[in-house]
Amino acid sequence: MRQVTTESELRAAIGQARRAGQRIGFVPTMGALHEGHASLIRTARRETDFVVVSIFVNPTQFGPNEDYQRYPRTPQTDAEICQREGVDLLFAPTVEEMYPPGFCTWVEVTGLQDVLCGRSRPGHFRGVATVVLKLFNLVQPDIAYFGQKDAQQARIIRQMVRDLNVPVEIRVCPIVREPDGLAMSSRNAYLSPEQRRQATVLYRALCAAHELVKQGERDAGRVREHMLQVIATVPEAVLDYAEIVDPETLQPVQQINAPVLAALAVKIGPARLIDNMTLTPPTH
Ligand code: PAJ
Repeated sequence: MRQVTTESELRAAIGQARRAGQRIGFVPTMGALHEGHASLIRTARRETDFVVVSIFVNPTQFGPNEDYQRYPRTPQTDAEICQREGVDLLFAPTVEEMYPPGFCTWVEVTGLQDVLCGRSRPGHFRGVATVVLKLFNLVQPDIAYFGQKDAQQARIIRQMVRDLNVPVEIRVCPIVREPDGLAMSSRNAYLSPEQRRQATVLYRALCAAHELVKQGERDAGRVREHMLQVIATVPEAVLDYAEIVDPETLQPVQQINAPVLAALAVKIGPARLIDNMTLTPPTH
């Protein structure tokens, strides 16, 4: 595995692979890699010939009072995981490399960026869309891999690629969970053992919603209310949002007549956790 930090090294390494006729798979990350990231890398490994992983804690997607400074950084173990998973090229640029002085161009996916997480994290998806487009332009992958864990992010990237004619195929991979259901996340490292136990409440609320819909409930308001009740059983859990939305528009639905996305953001101690599940109404 090669490791590079600059645009010129990256372009040279990728040019070589491309000239050899290899299909390029790309997994953008912020590091502190876990099994969720590894699952994307494995899918890329299966589907493409030359796998590129980027590790960049992108400052522009963090708000001024968010966790940019204390976001976990584990470069050594990250490199070991990439090596073990058969990554060909690891790109870990500096902030100066990605945002040189005078940087002033931004990508905004209007509408989709303002709901759910965008409401409580203004500017977040502008930072995400901008850095992902930059990374796409640098790597020029055939296929790029994202996790359903960040469903809104994946929806926004798909829209950006469509609207700006970016020649890349987007694959969205399933959420990888801990045995007790907690969605894997680099931010789970912020949780104390007690908070870690409480954190399963997100998955439990989603499973309860799933069960209701399976039993025939079609009123999104009632399903949402049920999720709120489950979350309220953990007094330390501070709700950011619990919504039942259309997976395309991310707008709330009233009736569940087609697959919908149940999406949650909950603060537990120092960690803001997100999770989601697709709820599909029974056909009969
Ligand atoms: P990061 O949080 O490191 O996530 C990188 C990718 O891994 C994202 O596509 C995310 O959805 C996926 N992922 C994270 N946890 C997962 C899980 N439990 N199961 C499946 N996939 C999971 O998302 C970002 O970084 C950044 O916003 C980025 C796209 C790199 C732009 O800076």
